[in-house]
Amino acid sequence: MNAPIVHVNASIASSNAPAPTDAAHRPVGGSYTFGGRKGRISPTRQRALDELVPRYLFAPPFDASRPLIIEIGCGKGEATAAMAGGDTDSLVIACEPNAATIANLASLLDDGGITNVALWVGDALDLLAHLGPASTAEIRVWFPDPWPKPRHAHKRLVTAQRLGLITDALTIGARLRIATDDAAYAEEALAAIGAEPRLSGGIVARPPGRPVTTFEARGLRAGHRPIDIEAHRIR
Ligand SMILES: C[S@@+](CC[C@H](N)C(=O)[O-])C[C@H]1O[C@@H](n2cnc3c(N)ncnc32)[C@H](O)[C@@H]1O
Repeated sequence: MNAPIVHVNASIASSNAPAPTDAAHRPVGGSYTFGGRKGRISPTRQRALDELVPRYLFAPPFDASRPLIIEIGCGKGEATAAMAGGDTDSLVIACEPNAATIANLASLLDDGGITNVALWVGDALDLLAHLGPASTAEIRVWFPDPWPKPRHAHKRLVTAQRLGLITDALTIGARLRIATDDAAYAEEALAAIGAEPRLSGGIVARPPGRPVTTFEARGLRAGHRPIDIEAHRIR
C-alpha cells in the first residue's frame, strides 16, 4: 500500500493537519481515502508551496459567525477559486493531502486576491473531527477518487460509514454536494444517502457555478458523464 500523501511535505502538513492516527474514520483496515501520489514538482509550484501555502493555512481561532464551507479533495483548486466569489459571506476551507497540488490553489488565491478561502493540507476527516459536530454549513466533494478496483473499495470517501462522520459535521439544514463521473460510485453514494436517516437528497442538475475541474475534464475526454448529487441534513 502507498504511504499517505500527508507525509510528502511533513513540514507543511504538520503545520495545520494533526499527525495521522488510527482515528474512528479509518476503521476499515486503517485505510485512508487517498493514495500516495509522489510526482515531480515544478520550481513554480515549489515556490508556491514554500511561500504561499503557509500564508493560507487554516488556523483556529476563526470568525465563527461566518458559515463554514468545507471542500474535500480540492486537487489543484480550480473549482475552489472559481466558486469563491459566490461564497464571500462564508469561510471556505479547501482540504487536500497532496501538498504539491494544493500549492496550485495557493497561487490562484494569491493571483485572484481571494481572502475567503483557507487551506487544510491533510485529511479532511481530521478537520471535521477537529471542528466538531454540527459545525459546517456545506460540504463539497467534487470528483472523489473512484477507487474502482474491488480491493480498494474500502478507501472510497462516500461510504455509509464515512458518510455518517460527514453528516455529523453538518448543521441541520446544511447541504452535502457531490459530483462524480463514475456511475457505480454515484449509485453507492445515493444508497448511502438513502440509508442515512439524517440526510435527504438525490441527483440534481449540474450547479451553474461549478466549473469543469482537472479530473472532470479528463473524464469528459474519456466519454464519462458527470453526475451531481445534493443532500440536506434534515435532523
Ligand atoms: C480524483 S481527485 C479530484 C480532485 C479535484 N476535486 C478535481 O475534480 O480535479 C480526488 C482528490 O481528493 C483528495 N482526497 C481524497 N481523500 C481525501 C481526504 N480524506 N481529505 C482530503 N482530500 C482527499 C485526493 O488527494 C485527490 O486529490
